[in-house]
Amino acid sequence: MAMAGLVACFVLYSCLGRIPSALGVILRTTDKIVWANEFEPIELTCLIESISTNNPRIEWKKIKDGIPSYVYFQNKIAGDLENRAQLREPANILIFNTTRSDTAEYRCEVAAIDDQRDFDEILISLAVRVKPVVPRCSVPEAVTVGTSTELRCLENEGFPAPQYRWFHNNEELPQDPKNSPRFVNFSYSINPDTGSLKFRRVRKEDAGDYYCQAKNDAGHAQCPTQVMEVYDVDILGIALKCLGGASVVIIVVAFLCSIRRMCLQFKSHNENHYNWPTQNNGVEYGDPDEGHFRHKSSFII
Ligand SMILES: *[C@@H]1O[C@H](CO)[C@@H](O)[C@H](O)[C@H]1NC(C)=O
Ligand SMILES: *[C@@H]1O[C@H](CO)[C@@H](O)[C@H](O)[C@H]1NC(C)=O
Repeated sequence: MAMAGLVACFVLYSCLGRIPSALGVILRTTDKIVWANEFEPIELTCLIESISTNNPRIEWKKIKDGIPSYVYFQNKIAGDLENRAQLREPANILIFNTTRSDTAEYRCEVAAIDDQRDFDEILISLAVRVKPVVPRCSVPEAVTVGTSTELRCLENEGFPAPQYRWFHNNEELPQDPKNSPRFVNFSYSINPDTGSLKFRRVRKEDAGDYYCQAKNDAGHAQCPTQVMEVYDVDILGIALKCLGGASVVIIVVAFLCSIRRMCLQFKSHNENHYNWPTQNNGVEYGDPDEGHFRHKSSFII
């Protein structure tokens, strides 16, 4: 008899353990950590495993930077989600069109007054992925063979933070050229987290079109192609260029002098002739003269 009682007790106990409805409200969710893409719908699930109360009180709070605010209160969507979400059976919340500002923790709270255990809550983290926008890229226009240089790429909107890839003449540069037979002689290194492409020693072959792509799980974007030119250090060439430029200037000046007698007068009567175009304003001569000089000097270079 005592044995039968013990068994009955045990059965009852294990039944109670298995069917918790008699004990009170219990919540469950399908995902405690939820990722959504921006501008897409997402449903945060708050499933009621067991409950005896007919009309439980359901509330949702959003907790951002430690500060809670209501998003479902007194049977209405409120606050940040007003007009952007709805409650779905049993206590899920459906956001129609997520935005990046929805990234936060959300707490579903259910109070069941007639249950023995009359309250339960569940916390869900929502992270909204944001597509990268067009990154800002900086590519030097011209570099000299053998020098070091850095190309930079930066994007600030994407979430999670994007990874960067660089393309040279429309071909992706492997992150580590040493691992790729075709790029084994390249001297660059890429940091996919910062977007930096560094050349230790630029070679002629590194010249060409460059662009960078920022990519995360939500999408990717790339900057427009920019050209990097690579020059030899060629002292003779530079000297010849200078000479060439100078001789052109001399020819032009000689030509101007020959067709304008004034040029000679200008030279012999410097002081007097400074006054000829306008009567009284010396400052005005300074400008065209200076402009002329600048023009010559830039021409030489
Ligand atoms: C979601 O919101 C964005 C920005 O407010 C809007 O451009 C887009 O059309 C919306 N998408 C849908 C499916 O309503
Ligand atoms: C790399 O450089 C070595 C030595 O200069 C050369 O023999 C080899 O062909 C080069 N490889 C490529 C892929 O250009």
